[in-house]
Amino acid sequence: MDPRSQVLLRQPHLFTEQPLLLAGLPADDLLGQLAQAYGWSWHAGEAQSLSSRFAERLHYGADCPAVPFTGVVLFLPKAREQVDYLVAQLASRLSAGALFYLVGEKRAGIERAAKQLNVLGKPLKLDSARHCQLWQVSLEQVPKAPQHAWQTWPLSARQQPLTIHSLPGVFSHGRLDVGSALLLEHLDALPGHDWLDYGCGAGVIGAHLAQLHPSAQLTLLDVDAFAVASSQQTLAANQLNNAQVTAAASLADVASHSLDAVISNPPFHQGVDTHYQIAHALIRDARRVLRKGGELRIVANDFLRYPALIEEHFGHCETLAHARGFKIYRAVCAG
Ligand SMILES: C[S@@+](CC[C@H](N)C(=O)[O-])C[C@H]1O[C@@H](n2cnc3c(N)ncnc32)[C@H](O)[C@@H]1O
Repeated sequence: MDPRSQVLLRQPHLFTEQPLLLAGLPADDLLGQLAQAYGWSWHAGEAQSLSSRFAERLHYGADCPAVPFTGVVLFLPKAREQVDYLVAQLASRLSAGALFYLVGEKRAGIERAAKQLNVLGKPLKLDSARHCQLWQVSLEQVPKAPQHAWQTWPLSARQQPLTIHSLPGVFSHGRLDVGSALLLEHLDALPGHDWLDYGCGAGVIGAHLAQLHPSAQLTLLDVDAFAVASSQQTLAANQLNNAQVTAAASLADVASHSLDAVISNPPFHQGVDTHYQIAHALIRDARRVLRKGGELRIVANDFLRYPALIEEHFGHCETLAHARGFKIYRAVCAG
């Protein structure tokens, strides 16, 4: 059981007597313990694992589920702006006097995030255990649903003007990341035309490739529902019909055919830890889904030990560029 769920279950009477929404819940047995609760997940991998047991009580997506609830538990998301956005969105569905809870790990910044509940009323720390805290606020007033959550910004790479759309919490919300910018400069001579942008975020890389190569077929993949919605909006706003967006936690989940190229600015932070698990899985799975002669091209901070991982699976790793603290790596599938 996730430690945040354990903290909730130290006071089960608070969460068992009302229709409750668990927003951003972990993939554990909390829904099994709280029979009145409904889960909203924005992580495709966790949602898949939860829906195998709780399909009728689980929603995956970027929009709050259209089910009735009289109280909310928000599991602290990573980005500060996403906390504001979710607090406003969720509280707008409650009535005055309803109880709103926030739970999260201390090292993830729960103490500071609890101050963001001040817009609803006076937050009260209910519990502190398992390196987590649980906060409660009784709604003094009901906020309006947020209207202007989208950030829209222009991107011009290689004389290709694009408008990027992103929701709060999506990677590099409202601006271009330095690593992604370097990758955009090194996307020449990709083989074939069936390409996948892994960890697409707001769609910067995939949309650029789709625009530059109208005859290519692009799949944009991300685990996060807010990223998926952002990429969909970016593609629609730029009328890019040669690209589609998929919600998935892994390359192995979707790509059943032989891809010509996998392009990525892969994630290496998860929660507050730095680790290689996701990038390692990406490199391993890319080797499996690429056709012979297909290519993996990624950007990464130059301190990350990706070349060894790439060599382990592809037998070689070429560095195409090194600038501004990032490197572009390339590996071709020998068959
Ligand atoms: C470094 S960001 C890159 C975003 C975008 N490509 C760009 O360049 O702006 C990495 C992205 O990977 C996504 N991600 C994290 N874990 C993932 C996983 N297991 N499967 C697929 N995508 C994942 C994150 O949601 C995030 O959008």
